Amino acid sequence: TNPVMDADPAIDVAVHRVTRLAPAKINLALHVTGRRDDGYHLLDMLVAFADIGDHVHIEKSGADSFRISGPFSDGIPLDSGNLVLKARDILRREFGSALPAVAIHLEKNLPIASGIGGGSSDAAATLLALNDLWKLGLSFDELATLGLTLGADLPMCLHGAAFRTPLIARGIGEDIIPVDDMPALALLLVNDGTALATPDVFCALSRRDNGALPQRAFRSLESPLESLCSYLRSTRNDLLPAALTLAPHIAKKLDLLRGHQALYAQISGSGATCFGLFADIETAQRAAAAIRSDHPGWFIVPARTASSSPIPI
Ligand code: C5P
Repeated sequence: TNPVMDADPAIDVAVHRVTRLAPAKINLALHVTGRRDDGYHLLDMLVAFADIGDHVHIEKSGADSFRISGPFSDGIPLDSGNLVLKARDILRREFGSALPAVAIHLEKNLPIASGIGGGSSDAAATLLALNDLWKLGLSFDELATLGLTLGADLPMCLHGAAFRTPLIARGIGEDIIPVDDMPALALLLVNDGTALATPDVFCALSRRDNGALPQRAFRSLESPLESLCSYLRSTRNDLLPAALTLAPHIAKKLDLLRGHQALYAQISGSGATCFGLFADIETAQRAAAAIRSDHPGWFIVPARTASSSPIPI
């Protein structure tokens, strides 16, 4: 079987409509281990995917169209510079302009330029949705190769949108190794509205030759969660010091999460979204309510990640 089909997207064959979740990508750890000659950084990352994110709805239509709705739709380009349309157009270029016209609706629930996947996850979900709708029959690897031309983290976001299971990503992010021993996690995402451009954060790095991720052993202690948290305390997000030089107030979000019973707190990707890991989803929800009451304008979203053995989506 085609593994890309296993994630069971909502396909309505009768009206030719597909909906895909573009999940929030959480970098549980991100080590910067080097730099390629072309300027791209070599990374070693532990990544999980949340059960919340943007939604991409696509249906066959008389003419191509694109619209965006949702709390973070403001300021997102509607032209061919948008990664969703780039994903559509790359498939058209590869497989012929005769493919039927599609109406694409992006429901933008994740803040932009915030370190949790966003545009890359949207493009990944679009590739998967169009592969289904246009019956292209492309394998995961074929979609990942096409996706990589749109962005370094497209392949891992594709894995997230297709399978939702955690992974290690190396290279510039394209070398994906599924992780087989990760528990499901309860987490809280917090962003105060700060947008950080990824290239700016990489530019602000003072060191680019840090050590790789330490060897994993999530099952070494009684509790898989305790074991994971103790492992994460031996890791870093090497982009954090750079992000802090651009947005020093990120430190306060991490303190806030820790002060509300997060067992571990870190920024995701290049920030500025912070995440906390909690003992259970109820504790994460209580922390969300408490932080929200003091900061009603912030993006504060509890979520669960899939374990290595995914629950049916
Ligand atoms: O590949 P993508 O366009 O998503 O990357 C955005 C920017 O992030 C790159 O132009 C680069 O500055 C930085 N980046 C990097 N190393 C990576 C991924 C991204 O330097 N592995």
